Amino acid sequence: MKAHRIALLAACAMAASLSLAQTPAKLKIGLMLPYTGTYAALGIAIENGFRLFVAEKDGKLAGREIEFVKVDDESDPSKATDNVNKLVKRDNVDVLVGSVHSGVAMAMAKVAKDTGTILIVPNAGADIVTGAMCAPNIFRSSFSNWQPAYAMGEVAAKKGARRAVTLTHKYAAGDESVKGFREAFEKGGGQIVKDLNLPFPGVEFQALLTEIAALKPDAVYVFFAGGAAVKFVKDYAAAGLKKSIPLYGAGFLTDGTLDAQGADADGLITALHYADSLGTPRDNAFRLAYAKTYKLQPDVYAVQGYDAAQMLGIGLTAAKGDITKKAEFTAALEKARIDSPRGSFMLSKAHNPVQDIYLRQVTGKENKVVNVAIKALADPARGCKM
Ligand code: PHB
Repeated sequence: MKAHRIALLAACAMAASLSLAQTPAKLKIGLMLPYTGTYAALGIAIENGFRLFVAEKDGKLAGREIEFVKVDDESDPSKATDNVNKLVKRDNVDVLVGSVHSGVAMAMAKVAKDTGTILIVPNAGADIVTGAMCAPNIFRSSFSNWQPAYAMGEVAAKKGARRAVTLTHKYAAGDESVKGFREAFEKGGGQIVKDLNLPFPGVEFQALLTEIAALKPDAVYVFFAGGAAVKFVKDYAAAGLKKSIPLYGAGFLTDGTLDAQGADADGLITALHYADSLGTPRDNAFRLAYAKTYKLQPDVYAVQGYDAAQMLGIGLTAAKGDITKKAEFTAALEKARIDSPRGSFMLSKAHNPVQDIYLRQVTGKENKVVNVAIKALADPARGCKM
């Protein structure tokens, strides 16, 4: 009887360890995004996109089930280092995905660099992340702040604008966006007559709109996103400026925001690496699946989240599911062509997408493609030594 029981126990233990050997541990993803504040909708769209790709792969990447450890980073850089350290050191996540806000992403990149943890940035454009901070374990599925801004500057100059005013939240993303716009706009013969800004995430635009009206520039270039973009577009129209001074932006100004902006956004021209009317089979399939799953239209953020999951899948598959095999992970991504809904792209040496920047115009509830403003635009990756 006793011997029988021992044999049974041994058989159970063997079965358990066998099934352990066959089922690798879940991959722990530290998902650090804003779920509150002006960028909350952006964080949600990124997570939705990420989950959609994983669901299309039957819930697994490279044979491993996924477990999320989620943090609401509140788009607050002052909390970012603590937040990311907790994910890496307390929760022992295998990989970091985040964030939206450039200041938060810079803190994430610093910890990723110091600890060697793989980081995929699914939005924040901070130029330095794929510039001076570039590293073998840091990747971006989105853009650099320079990219859409530079394209918009080139288009604004070609359209004949000579004197422009810029306006943005005062932080890395806004500053770099304005810098990218200025670089191309000046090259094309334009001149920035005034740089205006306000603290993030403020939305008291009235005094600034009054100043723009007094300056009477040929064009206004802005960087705003999320809730602030909704309010700015409405305020610009309410101030009567929409009729008299063309408003240009990095495309975040009108992406994921059109339901709330309504007619006040109609006709606005922006530049971005995505649009609502690409009409390719790849994008159509993505948009249909996203709308079915979430009862929502996708936007650029959803695409970037989806592509972050694709990139993780590519790296992890090359590493045979073992995220500690970083050389294999990196080598695979460096030669991958990523089959994005935006159009397929490859990563630059600094691990930022080399991608087409579309010129779009708001028509009803869509950012319609006007044309490709710049094909296969690569960020200059200033300061990257890799
Ligand atoms: C950024 O902080 O880098 C940022 C935030 C929101 C956007 C784009 C860039 O839509």
